[in-house]
Amino acid sequence: MEKFTNWRDKGTGIAPFQPPTTQKEAIFFNKSIITNIIFSIIYLTRCILLIPVLILSPFINLRLLFLTGFTSGRIKIDYQVNGVKRSQLNKDPRKYHLQKGNLYVINYSSVLAAIVLQYIAQDNRSIKYLIPSESNDLYELTLLQFINFTMNGQSLNVTQYGTQIKEISNKDWINYTWCLFAEGTCSNGKSILPFQINKTSLELVVDDSTSICSEIIPVTIKVNNSLVTPLGGSSWRLLWSLILKHKCLAKIKVHESHLLVKEMDALDGVRESLNDGDKYKLVSKSLGIREKRTFVEEFRK
Ligand SMILES: *[C@@H]1O[C@H](CO)[C@@H](O)[C@H](O)[C@H]1NC(C)=O
Ligand SMILES: *[C@@H]1O[C@H](CO)[C@@H](O)[C@H](O)[C@H]1NC(C)=O
Ligand SMILES: *[C@@H]1O[C@H](CO)[C@@H](O)[C@H](O)[C@H]1NC(C)=O
Ligand SMILES: *[C@@H]1O[C@H](CO)[C@@H](O)[C@H](O)[C@H]1NC(C)=O
Ligand SMILES: *[C@@H]1O[C@H](CO)[C@@H](O)[C@H](O)[C@H]1NC(C)=O
Ligand SMILES: *[C@@H]1O[C@H](CO)[C@@H](O)[C@H](O)[C@H]1NC(C)=O
Ligand SMILES: *[C@@H]1O[C@H](CO)[C@@H](O)[C@H](O)[C@H]1NC(C)=O
Repeated sequence: MEKFTNWRDKGTGIAPFQPPTTQKEAIFFNKSIITNIIFSIIYLTRCILLIPVLILSPFINLRLLFLTGFTSGRIKIDYQVNGVKRSQLNKDPRKYHLQKGNLYVINYSSVLAAIVLQYIAQDNRSIKYLIPSESNDLYELTLLQFINFTMNGQSLNVTQYGTQIKEISNKDWINYTWCLFAEGTCSNGKSILPFQINKTSLELVVDDSTSICSEIIPVTIKVNNSLVTPLGGSSWRLLWSLILKHKCLAKIKVHESHLLVKEMDALDGVRESLNDGDKYKLVSKSLGIREKRTFVEEFRK
């Protein structure tokens, strides 16, 4: 791995672009005979269920499968909200789900984050996926575009996938749930990359004179380490591992909000919150999209 030391953070030792090394699973060999038989039957059943999908695969949009039943039931959601007790949350979870008219900043390490958001938004048709480009402009993506961007292009040039947002009107603001992936590119979840957007460029889009956007709410979505997608990859493989292997466990935490107006560097605070408040484990601001691009080139050699 010495080859990639240029992309390892000097201070923390974290290599934020390195894809996970997936462990081969030995489900058939480490359990009792009965368990093995049961596992085999489950495994076979799932394989049989997959046959029609395989036959139809040239004709269907694989990425659409993510949306339809395929991931449902395979993702287990563990939802927490800062300052709300579990018992209170369990009584009426929807009440605490992501709401329209709010700006959420979410850590970006897996394509599954976008799908998880569908389950934890009060109105899942109102979600706007926002990703900043390398030049600090804001782009809006649909769920399909988000999946395409994350899985196809090593998430390096969002301008080819989304549409640029020049301005958001007050009327639009209250009708959508704004989910910003401020890092602009996918990491492996070991840290939070530098944000590709600053306060100035954010305020150009959301006009704060009318204070429609006064606060930012950090949301961390943590999925199994084996399911992070820093360099994109095959949607098939991801689906396959979700269907044939185990469920995905998504731990979601909604953190305390940061006031955009009051705090001088609200976005730095947000970045720290996304890293579970640990600023010493943040990678240096010099590990952004440009460095990821050189990493990808080197990695492919
Ligand atoms: C999205 O919302 C609709 C309507 O509330 C609901 O039926 C559907 O299950 C939701 N989708 C997901 C992925 O949660
Ligand atoms: C914010 O980003 C814009 C666009 O890249 C840049 O012109 C501006 O100097 C940045 N502002 C700060 C405070 O860094
Ligand atoms: C995915 O992205 C590629 C390259 O940008 C584009 O050609 C293709 O049309 C996109 N597909 C979908 C379904 O958006
Ligand atoms: C991203 O794509 C756009 C449109 O194809 C292109 O003009 C731009 O140069 C690309 N940016 C980078 C950094 O490659
Ligand atoms: C916002 O939502 C309301 C209620 O759902 C709807 O009546 C209105 O037309 C929407 N406004 C815009 C600008 O989309
Ligand atoms: C999201 O952030 C949390 C907290 O920093 C981190 O533990 C997690 O690995 C990150 N992302 C994912 C997808 O796991
Ligand atoms: C994800 O993690 C959960 C809990 O640790 C585990 O039960 C599950 O098998 C894991 N799934 C995958 C695909 O690794």
